[in-house]
Amino acid sequence: MELPESIRGFIAERISRYPNKKALLIPALMECQKLFGQVTPEAAQAVASELDLPFAEVQSVISFYTMLNRRPTGEFLIAMCGTWNCEHGGTAALIEHFTKKYGVEPGEVTKDGKFTLLRVECLADCHNAPSSQFYHRGEDFKAYWVNNLTVELFDQVLDEVAAGGPAALRERLVRIEDKANPPDDRRWIWLVTTNSQYPAWVEQAGGEYIVHDAYGRLGDLKQENPQLFAEIQAALKG
Ligand code: FES
Repeated sequence: MELPESIRGFIAERISRYPNKKALLIPALMECQKLFGQVTPEAAQAVASELDLPFAEVQSVISFYTMLNRRPTGEFLIAMCGTWNCEHGGTAALIEHFTKKYGVEPGEVTKDGKFTLLRVECLADCHNAPSSQFYHRGEDFKAYWVNNLTVELFDQVLDEVAAGGPAALRERLVRIEDKANPPDDRRWIWLVTTNSQYPAWVEQAGGEYIVHDAYGRLGDLKQENPQLFAEIQAALKG
């Protein structure tokens, strides 16, 4: 096969920054994986030709690194953390739900071609256990955090992603907790979402709740994520 133009461009743009062509091998293979969800033998052969490397050498790299997939994956690859903290946070229940819902084991593709779930090691987001990332393959490849999941919310996310694509991977509200030991008299909360946990204080104005995120990371939710804004309003009213 011919390497897609996007990957040829990726290589051409970076080649001068690497000491030799071989040094660009893994980045080029990762680009193939982002596009196809795996590194097929045809793609490996095309990368070998592009970088002037023996095919056997490229194959040996692919077989050494477990993060390079040699099997087909679904449109969305779900990397579900199974390390200690997330395991205690509920990973096993999430994986069990996935396998029962779709009748496939981790590493297999669901019958609708939408998902492959892989149990992986720590994703370095341990305070948001159980932590996972969804990767959407293709030219618009992107990774999405989907954290702090319950089985019910995981089920809902899977159904909405299968029906609606990556837009369904927006940040969602998981729960709101009153903050123990607040620093002052204001109403302090923990806002727990599928991305992170935010300490915030809340006030009421003009018939709605205004959430002041102490990290300053949430932005203007009303504009940027109106569904999350509505979820927060409903939860605070409840
Ligand atoms: S233990 Fe799961 S992200 Fe670190």
